[in-house]
Amino acid sequence: MINPSPLPPLWAAPEISCARAEPLAREIGTVLVDTLPARGQVLVLESNRLLFRLIGDHELKGSLWVDFNTARATRRSRQVGSELLVKAARIRRVEQPLLIDATAGLGQDGFLLATHGFQVEMIEMNPVVAALLADGLARAAEVEQLAEVVGRIQLHRGNSVERLASLTRKPHVIYLDPMFPERSKSAKVKQNLRLLQHLDAHTVSPEELLTTALATQAKKVVVKRPLKGPYLCDEKPSYSLKGKAVRFDVYLV
Ligand SMILES: C[S@@+](CC[C@H](N)C(=O)[O-])C[C@H]1O[C@@H](n2cnc3c(N)ncnc32)[C@H](O)[C@@H]1O
Repeated sequence: MINPSPLPPLWAAPEISCARAEPLAREIGTVLVDTLPARGQVLVLESNRLLFRLIGDHELKGSLWVDFNTARATRRSRQVGSELLVKAARIRRVEQPLLIDATAGLGQDGFLLATHGFQVEMIEMNPVVAALLADGLARAAEVEQLAEVVGRIQLHRGNSVERLASLTRKPHVIYLDPMFPERSKSAKVKQNLRLLQHLDAHTVSPEELLTTALATQAKKVVVKRPLKGPYLCDEKPSYSLKGKAVRFDVYLV
């Protein structure tokens, strides 16, 4: 079968019904193939998860999928007050601030913020990344300890520049995490980032994203940057919180 789409094809494991696989392929905008390709990018639908794989790539052998039920996620959520991102995004005297995560990606940051009480609207424009994220959220909703957190998250597919320009409800915070070169020493994270980059999940016009975010008059716009990277759009923030490898630039509007 010829894949007319630049997106990876979807292959479903034999136990998966067409009734489950076909709508997913349609939603992503890709084709459903009946044989697992011998090489290249592919989305694999297994009974309990959706994976992205690069078949035949000797350097990137792993798979990419979203799992919020891990020891790392639990550890991060328990470090009350010590997560820099949470400190950067926090709004005084507002218990459940509305935060728009305009570059949701694999949802790690957005999920952490929801764990700390934020109402999070995630926006992701890459259809494959959005499908992986939706799959991870659906699985997390089935886990008793995570269901409440998932209940505070909404996922939208699309371009944040457009969505931010037509908001009906003003958020307290807008969070931007534009893609930047490798930032972690952890081999696993490195691999996930590289797989994510293979999906062409780059930030579309980060400058426009910042300008649109600032124009919404949200109380705060928080931007994740490499520790020593330049300010986004050369726009000096109100202040920055610095970690070991990253920095959060906070713009008070
Ligand atoms: C570095 S990743 C974000 C990682 C995320 N913070 C996390 O914790 O997993 C950037 C993501 O933003 C998405 N993106 C870039 N520009 C966008 C836009 N204008 N609207 C929506 N999503 C966008 C990309 O597709 C990519 O998945």
